Amino acid sequence: MSTEMRTNCYLPFLEINLTPARLQHSIGVMHVMTELAEIYSLDRTQALTAGLLHDAAKDLEPEQQLALVEEAGVELRHPCERHPVYLHATASACLISKEFSITDRLLLDAISTHSYSGDGPNFNSHLTQCLRSADILAPSHVWLGMRKLKSVVYAGRLEEAALLQVAWLIEYFHELNIAIHPNLTRSFQEATTRLAIGDDFFDRW
Ligand SMILES: [Fe+2]
Ligand SMILES: [Fe+2]
Repeated sequence: MSTEMRTNCYLPFLEINLTPARLQHSIGVMHVMTELAEIYSLDRTQALTAGLLHDAAKDLEPEQQLALVEEAGVELRHPCERHPVYLHATASACLISKEFSITDRLLLDAISTHSYSGDGPNFNSHLTQCLRSADILAPSHVWLGMRKLKSVVYAGRLEEAALLQVAWLIEYFHELNIAIHPNLTRSFQEATTRLAIGDDFFDRW
């Protein structure tokens, strides 16, 4: 069975559980993951599945998301992880594991940590990092910085892309008054220490 046919089997579930806009977004993220799988030598099935299922629980009520996480016995590590902006990722991994008996740890962890919550050895795996990039490069809306991020990601510069994303996400969450997850602050500090970046690094275009 082709990868596309395998991922198609998730569509009926998503059509019921996601809004039409979210479903379109998820399909868009899957398409970007197809391209990133080539560039970063990801397993194609894992990449496409991660893209399609990453927001599976995002349209559930926050209480339902929390119930999924509690039912799965996953402990939230920080109070801010109860906010849906972070929680939906963990909840989505719990939901698809339960619904489709998915046990692939790399795939589940990529979905669970795509919002930068949680931890573990796959927190910054290539699959996770590509998923985070595909999530904001999918053509759901156009934003200032998108062209630059795309050029960096598609050039194979995943570490730089991760830093841009983290910096811009922190800015965005500040604007929305959303608590900044300590993982975001830590990722920002670690990456700025590791990478030699110029003055114009964070310029958007
Ligand atoms: Fe998400
Ligand atoms: Fe998403």
